[in-house]
Amino acid sequence: MDRKLIQKCLFPVAGYGTRFLPATKSMPKEMLPIVNKPLVQYGVEEAIQAGMNNCALVTGRGKRAIADHFDISYELEQQVSGTPKEAFLSGIRNVLDQGIFTMVRQREMLGLGHAILTGEVLIGDQPFGVLLSDDLCINAEKSVLSQMVELYEEFNCSIVAIQEVPMEQVSRYGIVCGDNIRENVIEVREMVEKPKPEEAGSNLAIIGRYILTPDIFEIIKQTEPGANGEVQLTDALNRQVSEGGVVAYKFQGKRFDCGSISGFVEATNYVYENIYKAS
Ligand code: G1P
Repeated sequence: MDRKLIQKCLFPVAGYGTRFLPATKSMPKEMLPIVNKPLVQYGVEEAIQAGMNNCALVTGRGKRAIADHFDISYELEQQVSGTPKEAFLSGIRNVLDQGIFTMVRQREMLGLGHAILTGEVLIGDQPFGVLLSDDLCINAEKSVLSQMVELYEEFNCSIVAIQEVPMEQVSRYGIVCGDNIRENVIEVREMVEKPKPEEAGSNLAIIGRYILTPDIFEIIKQTEPGANGEVQLTDALNRQVSEGGVVAYKFQGKRFDCGSISGFVEATNYVYENIYKAS
């Protein structure tokens, strides 16, 4: 199996994080820590584990802390070098040793589809991962993106991660309808961005993990603004459904919606009890 098949992962990190104000007034929401590690670092570690060492960050104004996080802090290195405190830096040093970080700024927030298109210059003509760091996914055996890379190798089409959500929450998500290929693997028939519960054909919600084939860029260019007046990735994927097929995957693992206060607190408690204390 060629682990290098998918080398790049795109991280849309330009969003405002209004739900976390005032914490996010001058600090990117992606830098909010779950215990002692920023959300975006969990995402980058997941991508690197899946073989996507090239991390393409679609950033925006006020997001410089993210670029600084994935660079050496020379002063800090000097301060802690040779002291017991050095151990606290080992995790991020590993990430910096393995990862390559490229960045482009999204000047206007016109939707997830627009953010992905902004990243085209960093991705080029190859299949790539997309990771929304608000969705923290944890699975000890194999990360969610790694599971999806294996599926991509089998199906060679765009793959979206899905999870069942309560029917009253479907309007927060892209919702998928389709037919089972086998357990946990669905051939998508249709997907709709943020439908009303009475209009949703299922409760299978897209979670922030995707593998996309590069034709998505041309499709996004032709995609009109949809739900909330934004250019939606879901609408572009819907065209791929009719042109070559898209697979939806019910992943193994836990997922926390860290874009909401309650999900963020749940994730914090879970990581503290199950990962941090054990380390
Ligand atoms: C985005 C996508 C949506 C997906 C969700 C997952 O929505 O547009 O299809 O279900 O991420 O977190 P957002 O959360 O940016 O509104």
